[in-house]
Amino acid sequence: MGQYATRFPINVIVDMLGLDRADHGRFHVWYTSMIDFLGNLSQDPEIAAAGLRTRDELAAYMIPIIQDRRAHPGDDLLSVLCTAEIDGTRMSDEDIKAFVSLLLAAGGETTDKAIAGLFRNLLAHPEQLAAVREDRTLIPAAFAETLRFTPPVHMIFRQPCEDVEVSGGTIPAGATVTCLIGAANRDESRYADPDTFNIFRADLTTGSAFSAAADHLAFALGRHFCVGALLAKTEVEVGVNDLLDAFPTMAFAGGEVPAESGVFTRGPGSLRVRLTRRA
Ligand code: HEM
Repeated sequence: MGQYATRFPINVIVDMLGLDRADHGRFHVWYTSMIDFLGNLSQDPEIAAAGLRTRDELAAYMIPIIQDRRAHPGDDLLSVLCTAEIDGTRMSDEDIKAFVSLLLAAGGETTDKAIAGLFRNLLAHPEQLAAVREDRTLIPAAFAETLRFTPPVHMIFRQPCEDVEVSGGTIPAGATVTCLIGAANRDESRYADPDTFNIFRADLTTGSAFSAAADHLAFALGRHFCVGALLAKTEVEVGVNDLLDAFPTMAFAGGEVPAESGVFTRGPGSLRVRLTRRA
C-alpha cells in the first residue's frame, strides 16, 4: 500500500492540477499528514501539530502557484479552477487552495483503499483473480463488487428536512443520521448471499456502478454523489492492469487474508504481497 496504492491516486491529482511532477514525494508526505489529522480521534498532539504544519506548508506552496496560474492559465485543472466563473463569481485563492486539499483527501484515501481492497478481495479468491487476469474486461466488475463488499467510505452523515419513516421508526426532521454504507451494501433483501465476494453476481449492475444510478452506495447518492467516481474507475483500471502485467504471480506474503480496520473509512491496514516479476 505504501509503495503503490497510497501514491498512485495522489500522483494523478498532482498531475491533473498541472503541478510539478518532481513534487510527488512532497504531496505524499502532506497527504499522509492530512489523513492522519482527519482520523486523529484520540487527539494525539503530535499528529494535530503535524496536520497544522501541513496546512501552512500547503498554503505557502499553493497560493503563489494559484496567483501565477491566474495570470498565465494553461491546459490543466488548476487553471480551470482559477478562471471558472459562475454568475460573475470566481473562487478566491483560499477557496481554490481548500478545494485542492479536498481533492487530496477525497480522491486519495478512498482510491488508495479501493485498490488495496480490490487486490485483497481477489487474492482471497484466487479463482476470481485468475479470471480477471485472463479477461481484463472483468476489472470494472471486480471494482464494483469491491465497492459493494468492502466500501472505502463506511459512514456518511445526513439531516432530513422532514420526518422520515424507516423500518417502522421515525427519524425526526433536523436529526443527524449516521448512514452506514457498509451495512446497506450487504442488505440481504437487496443482494443474494451478501457476505460473499463474487464478481460474477447477477444483482450488481457494473454498467451503472460508477454513476449516480449505481445500485451500491459506496459513492453515496444524490447531490453529493462522488464527483470522482469515473476518475476512480479509470485509475483502478489502469492500476490493476499495470500490476497484473508486471507481476504474473501474486499471493499474500503471510498466507493470511489481512484484516480491515477503520470506522469512518475502512480498508486493510497493510497488504503485504509476494510478487514474482515478469522474466
Ligand atoms: C473508490 C474511490 C472513491 C470512493 C469510494 C469515494 C466515495 C465518496 C463518497 C461516499 C462521497 C459522498 C460523501 C457525502 O455524501 O457525504 C464522495 C464525495 C466526493 N468525492 Fe469521492 N470517492 C472516491 C474517489 C474520488 C476521487 C478519485 C475524487 C477526486 C479526485 C473524489 C472526490 C470527491 C469529492 C470532491 C466529493 C464531494 C462531492 C460533494 O460534496 O458534492 N472522490 N466520495
